[in-house]
Amino acid sequence: MSVQPQFDQLMRPGTPTQPLGRIISVRGSQATVGILQPLLEQDEKARVTVGKFLSIRSGQSLLIGVTTEISLQTMPIAREHGYHAIAQLDLMGEITPDETGAAHFRRGMRTYPGIGDSATLMSGAELGLVYSAANRTTIDIGHLHQDPAVGAYVQVDDLLCKHFAVLGSTGVGKSSGVAVILQEVMKTRPELRVFLIDPHNEYAHCFGERAEVLNPANLKLPFWMFNFDEIVNVLFGGRSGVEQEVEILAEVIPLAKSGYVQHRSIKRDPKNAGFTADTPVPYRIADLVALIDDRMGKLENRSTRMQYHKLITRIETVRNDPRYAFMFENANVGGDTTIELLRQLFRLPPTDKPITVMQLAGFPAEVLDAVVSVLCRMAFDFGLWSEGVFPLLFVCEEAHRYAPADHGLGFGPTRRAISRIAKEGRKYGVFLGLVTQRAAELDATILSQCSTLFAMRMVNDRDQELLRSAVSDAAANLWEFVPSLSTSEVLAFGEGVALPARLVFKQLPPDMLPKSETRALAGDSLGEASHEFLASVLERWRGATMSGRSLLEPAASEAKAPVVEPSPPLQPAPGSLQRPAARGPQPNFVK
Ligand SMILES: Nc1ncnc2c1ncn2[C@@H]1O[C@H](COP(=O)(O)OP(=O)(O)OP(=O)(O)O)[C@@H](O)[C@H]1O
Ligand SMILES: [Mg+2]
Repeated sequence: MSVQPQFDQLMRPGTPTQPLGRIISVRGSQATVGILQPLLEQDEKARVTVGKFLSIRSGQSLLIGVTTEISLQTMPIAREHGYHAIAQLDLMGEITPDETGAAHFRRGMRTYPGIGDSATLMSGAELGLVYSAANRTTIDIGHLHQDPAVGAYVQVDDLLCKHFAVLGSTGVGKSSGVAVILQEVMKTRPELRVFLIDPHNEYAHCFGERAEVLNPANLKLPFWMFNFDEIVNVLFGGRSGVEQEVEILAEVIPLAKSGYVQHRSIKRDPKNAGFTADTPVPYRIADLVALIDDRMGKLENRSTRMQYHKLITRIETVRNDPRYAFMFENANVGGDTTIELLRQLFRLPPTDKPITVMQLAGFPAEVLDAVVSVLCRMAFDFGLWSEGVFPLLFVCEEAHRYAPADHGLGFGPTRRAISRIAKEGRKYGVFLGLVTQRAAELDATILSQCSTLFAMRMVNDRDQELLRSAVSDAAANLWEFVPSLSTSEVLAFGEGVALPARLVFKQLPPDMLPKSETRALAGDSLGEASHEFLASVLERWRGATMSGRSLLEPAASEAKAPVVEPSPPLQPAPGSLQRPAARGPQPNFVK
C-alpha cells in the first residue's frame, strides 16, 4: 500500500508545471475549461482527449473532473484570452488535506471551481492517490486507461458486500475479467468462499489447484434437496407440471418425508410430523411411489387412476435415466448427506481450495434451471442460518438466463433465489457477482442491487439504454465510450471504484484464459488430439439425442467419479443403470 502523499506536494507549482487551461464557466457539477495549449501534442499521455481526468487547483482543494467533450467552438471572448479550444468537464470529487497535511480523496463536491482556476491533466501521483485508496482493502485488477503506470484498484469490501455485475457483448473479455477479479479477491480475502456457476465449462483451469471442479460425474445432489417447485420441474422435464399430478405430489411428498424419519426410528405421526413439501429432509423414491400406488389402488374411477399411473411412470422414467444419476443414484445411501454436500459445495471448513467451479455443461439441459435454483437457495440458506460466519461470493455467468427480465421466461424459483441473495444476501455474508452479455434481458431489480458495474463493449442499443439510466448523472457521459471499448477494456462504476473510470483488465496468460474444455482439447495440434477430440464431440452429440447410456468408452472424468456402494434398505430401482450420466445438452424427454 502506498504512503499517503502530502497535500502540499500535490499543490506545489511545478508538479505538473504548465496549466493546460483555465475554468471559463461552471454550471452545476459541469465546468468548461479553456485550453491554452494547441491540441497537437503527440505524446498520448499529455494529450487532452475525452475520458481523461483533469485536476483543478481551486483554493485549498484539488477538484477532479473527467472530460466529456472537446471542441474548437470557443466563445469570441475566450479566443481573445488566448484559448485554443474548450473542454467540458464532469466534476466528480476532490482531494483535500487533513489536519496533518496528508492528502485525501473524497467523492462528490463540497467546493466548486471559480473562473480562472487552473486545470491540468491529473498527474500519476494524483491518480495514484485516487485509485490506490490507501486506507481501504483494495485489489488491483489492471491499470487505468489514462495512465498504464497507475493500477486499477477496487475496494474489495464494497465490491463484494454490495454485489457487482460484469456486462458486455460476446467475446469482449467478460469471463477473463471475472477470472482476474476472482483471483485478486481470493488473494486479499482468503477466508471468502467463492461459488462460480460455469455454464460452458470454461473456468476449470483458471484457478489451478485452488479450484474444486464439480460436474455431474462427481457431484451428488440428492433429489430430496430439491424443493417442491424444483422437483416438479425435474419430473416434468423443465415444464410446469400437469395440475392433477402436481396435487398428488404435494400430498405424498410430506408423507414420504415423515415416513423416512420414522424409518430412522424417530417416532412421529406421519400426518402431523410438520414436514412440508419444501422441508429439506431426505425421503425415499420407493416410499413416494408406494404412497402413490397405495392411493391408486383405492380408486374406482379409471381416468383418475390413469393420473396416478402416469405420475408413477414419470417418476420411474426420470429415476432410471442415467443422465439423472447425479440426483437419484444412491441418493439415500449414507442417510442425510446434507452436511457433506455443504462441505463439498461451499468448501467448508475453509481449505486451500476456496473456489468451487460448478460446471453445468454436462447436466441435462431441461433441469439446469432447477439445479441452479437448488444451489443458489442452498448458498443463501446456509448464510442465513449460519448468520454469515463463512462469507460466500456466488458468481453466476449467463445471469440473464437464470434471472430473466421477462417473468414469462426462465424458471421462477431460480430468479427468486438469485433475487433473494441480491436483496438480503449482504446481511448474511452471501454476495452476488453477475455476468451477462444481454443486460437488458436481466431482471432489472436484481441488476439494480449490483452497486459496482463493470461495463465492457456493448453494441446492443437496448442494453446501453438500460444501463445508461442505471449509472449516476456524473458518470452518464462516460457511457458514450461503451460502444468503442476494446477487448478487456472496461468502464467501472459505482461503490467499488473511487471514481467512474476506464480501466484495462490485467492480461491473463493463455493457459489461464477461460476456455471451453472441448476447445482446449482440440489444442494446437489437431493431428495428435483428433481421435480423443472427435470421440468427445461424438459423446456429447449422442448424449443430446438419447436418454440411454453412452455407447463410447467413459470419459476420463467419468472414470474418476467416486463409486458409492449401494446399501441394503434402499436398493436401486429395477432397470436403473449404475453409470454416471451421459454428457451434453438434452432435449425434453418426458412426454
Ligand atoms: N484479460 C485478458 N487477458 C488475456 N486475453 C484476454 C483478456 N480478456 C479477453 N481476452 C481475449 O479475448 C477472448 C475473449 O475473452 P472472453 O472469453 O473472456 O470473452 P467473453 O466476453 O466472456 O465472451 P463470451 O460472451 O463468449 O463468454 C479471450 O479468449 C482472449 O483471447
Ligand atoms: Mg464468457
